[in-house]
Order: sequence, then structure tokens, then C-alpha cells
Amino acid sequence: MPNVVRQIAENIFSLETYAPEFAAVAKPGQFAHIDCGGGTYLRRPLSVCDVDANIGLVRFVFEVKGKGTRQLTIDNGQLTISRIGSPLGNGFPPIEGRVLLIGGGLGAAPLLFAARRYDTDALLGFADAHRAILIPDFSAACGNVSVFTIDGSLGKTGMIDFINIDYSKYSAVFACGPRAMLHNCQLSIINYQLPSPPLYVSMEEHMACGYGACLVCVCATKSGYSRVCKDGPVFESGEVIW
Ligand SMILES: Cc1cc2nc3c(=O)[nH]c(=O)nc-3n(C[C@H](O)[C@H](O)[C@H](O)COP(=O)(O)OP(=O)(O)OC[C@H]3O[C@@H](n4cnc5c(N)ncnc54)[C@H](O)[C@@H]3O)c2cc1C
Ligand code: FES
Repeated sequence: MPNVVRQIAENIFSLETYAPEFAAVAKPGQFAHIDCGGGTYLRRPLSVCDVDANIGLVRFVFEVKGKGTRQLTIDNGQLTISRIGSPLGNGFPPIEGRVLLIGGGLGAAPLLFAARRYDTDALLGFADAHRAILIPDFSAACGNVSVFTIDGSLGKTGMIDFINIDYSKYSAVFACGPRAMLHNCQLSIINYQLPSPPLYVSMEEHMACGYGACLVCVCATKSGYSRVCKDGPVFESGEVIW
């Protein structure tokens, strides 16, 4: 089955590939370490955006940043399972009850898989309407979806990390996006009246090996330096030293 690559927003692409072995075992929050081809030396990490295990489809959504991600847009049909590898990282924990998903920009992508597997509401924030992604997909998968843009060109105007959230109906919060946004989510939870739900954040660092050997991807946590590729990318937010 050929890969399907299509542009879904400004400089942002969706890639669907047939990878039944990967689809059968992938969990929300995990990532693939992809050999993008075209002479790129290191593999590039991309979060699993969505999976349909019934038909063996895996979806990634990515922004073109450099050589590797550009190669994925022109390499249609060449992405074999050996170049995707196996799902890596820990993924989001199992949760009983409703989960609030907070996705900033590209950070919305890994949360779609969670939206399909958990009982969820979603709060999505983008710079503007041209960079908004996956809103129909979240609307189909979640209870309530709120969309914000910084310039007000779509949804409500504002930054999602600065709005007041009623956390009382949620058993957990999953967040993915820029580090400053994640930190603001952590502060918002800390300042919320107790009891507040646990916040799980998906962290991003540059990677080399992708399987825990090289320590390129470490981030500071209360238990020492943790490897985002192996110990994460999902961390309980109170564990992270911001
Ligand atoms: C666990 C994890 C999951 C990710 N999931 C996604 C995803 O679902 N969608 C997506 O678009 N991107 C995701 N990224 C970021 C993505 O891996 C990088 O954008 C990509 O590797 C850039 O490769 P490139 O060859 O196109 O660019 P390069 O030529 O390697 O770099 C181009 C620019 O991107 C920057 N860059 C490279 N790697 C990263 C990184 N890890 N984080 C931030 N900036 C980087 C470089 O500093 C440089 O400025 C993820 C990163 C991690 C660690
Ligand atoms: S990328 Fe090598 S330890 Fe994480």
C-alpha cells in the first residue's frame, strides 16, 4: 500500500503509511525514529499522530524544518517499516475518567492518538488559522474541543497556556507543545485549587540514538538527568525541573 503525503497547513504535512506491525503495538505518546532517506545520517523523531490498527495504518504529522522532514515530503512511497522501526518511548499512562488534552501548535499531533483511546476534551492553540491542524479529527474524537489562535483568525483569541481552566472534571491532563507552554500549564495546575489532576507533559529534545545509549536527549528531572527517548518523552510535570 503506498504512503499518502499531503499538506494540511502552512509548511505542515500529514504522512500515512502502511505499517501493521507498528500499528498493532503503538501507544499514544510514543514516537518513531525515522530514517528519512536522501542521505540524512541520523534518524529523526516524529510522534505517532494516529493509528488504525485494524487496517495497519500509522499517521505522522510534521512541520518541514530541514533536510530530513523535507525528504519525507518528496519521498512518497519509500517509507518502509525498516525505516520507521518500532514505537519508542513510554507514552501516556492509563487513566480512569476524563482527560483534558492541551496541544500547542504541532503539539496537537501526538494528542490525536490519545483523543481516540481516552475519554477526552481538547484545548488546542495555534499561532493563526494557517497553522491550525487536525481540528476536524479532534472534533470527531473528543467531547468538547476549544480552539484558540494568538491573532484571533480562528476560534477564540488568546494563548491556551494563559486561560483559566476548570480542572475539576478531569482525572488527568496531557499536554504537548513548546516548553514555555508546558511550563505555564504546570504553573496553572499548581495554582489551581486542590485537588488538581496530574499533568503529563510530552517533552522534546534533540536526539541521536533514540534508544537510550548516547545521552544527547537528557532533560533535568527531580530524579537526575532523564533520557527523553527512553525515560520519556512523557513525564509527570512535577518531575521536570523547569
Ligand atoms: C520525541 C519527539 C517527537 C517529535 N514529534 C514531532 C512531530 O510529531 N512533528 C514534528 O513536526 N516534529 C516533531 N519533533 C521534532 C522533529 O524531530 C524535528 O523537527 C526534526 O527532527 C527536524 O529534522 P530535519 O532534518 O527536518 O531538520 P534538521 O535539519 O535536523 O533541523 C532543522 C531545524 O530543526 C531543529 N530541530 C531538529 N531537531 C529538533 C527537535 N528534536 N526539536 C526541536 N527542534 C529541532 C534544528 O535545531 C534546526 O533548527 C519531535 C521531536 C521529538 C524529540
Ligand atoms: S537520543 Fe541517545 S539517549 Fe536519547
